[in-house]
Amino acid sequence: MIETPKGVRIAGIGSATPSKVISNRDLEKILDTSDEWIKSRTGISERRVVEPSEDSLEISVKACQKALGNTDPNEIDLIVVATSTPDFLYPSTACRVQAALKANRAAAFDLSAACTGFIFSLVTAAQFLQLGTYRKALVLGVDIHSRFLDWTDRSTSILFGDGAGAVLIEQTSFEENQLLSHSIHSDGSGGCDLSLKNVSGGYPSGKLNKQTENVQMNGRKIYQFAVTTIPKAIEETATMAGHKPEDINYLICHQANQRILDSVAEKMNWPKEKCISNISKYGNTSAASIPLAWDESYKSFQNGDLISLAGFGAGLTWGSLIWKWKEFN
Ligand code: UT7
Repeated sequence: MIETPKGVRIAGIGSATPSKVISNRDLEKILDTSDEWIKSRTGISERRVVEPSEDSLEISVKACQKALGNTDPNEIDLIVVATSTPDFLYPSTACRVQAALKANRAAAFDLSAACTGFIFSLVTAAQFLQLGTYRKALVLGVDIHSRFLDWTDRSTSILFGDGAGAVLIEQTSFEENQLLSHSIHSDGSGGCDLSLKNVSGGYPSGKLNKQTENVQMNGRKIYQFAVTTIPKAIEETATMAGHKPEDINYLICHQANQRILDSVAEKMNWPKEKCISNISKYGNTSAASIPLAWDESYKSFQNGDLISLAGFGAGLTWGSLIWKWKEFN
């Protein structure tokens, strides 16, 4: 039987961050750094971090509940969670979120693509809807890098913050489809440039080591990787959608460094304001950064606006997609 092709639409967006704030001034007290250096090199003023008593579940559930609004969790068919800092290696964060939301019918799994995880997850979930397999999917990006940093390493600890962001997507008619194009990429040969090693277990003595090493990063390489791949990825998906890059109304890019956002704007010949930015308040929240920025900006979008989402990160991974914006209830 030939199925009619389906479309996908946004039905809700939500985000949540922990209440504890760490400012650049706080970091000055424990690191050889300065508010001036951090702001001028990254655009970050402060970041949110989970308390020792919290884990990623609290902010995940809050973000999902906001995205769900009045939707009954029993209507959700699928939960895909992008995270690289899970509280447990298993059960997955997605299964824990499913239980907390009482989304009893949903199939739930985690997807690991670091800071590009939300793009990979959104594209993955959308396939199930466009194929007609499922009707409603919740896509969450959540990371709590504060647990995996060496807080004495000024080259990484100033950059990251904790957060969660979620979208609810629904199957709709082919004519009302909002996901115009998407493209995801990987280059495993660059894996050593940004990594977080799991070193637990396996010691013949039976002695357990700590679970992970801290985040290792070649900042300059990742910077160059971002400013070269992101403009290409945006152009690629704009062309696939039958548009020119100048037709795009807003870019929601992974929030890693304000200088990266400004460089992308310059390469695209766009005014800086086209690139949504909230990095000064949250730092790099990894898989959460795109949905968090989306949640904070979508109220200024007009129906019909073309929104480009673009991410990059460890793997190496990168990807982009284009949404035709339509207000939801
Ligand atoms: O989700 C993806 C995750 N990662 C990224 O996107 C990272 C992309 N890369 C970056 O954002 C930038 O490369 C950083 C913000 C990480 C670093 O900025 P940079 O302009 O590339 O600085 P740098 O590493 O070249 O260091 C310049 C100087 C060095 O001193 P010398 O050798 O010139 O004397 C560093 O030791 O700045 C020094 N430095 C700092 N000084 C004060 C590095 N970190 C700090 C710091 N405070 N926190």
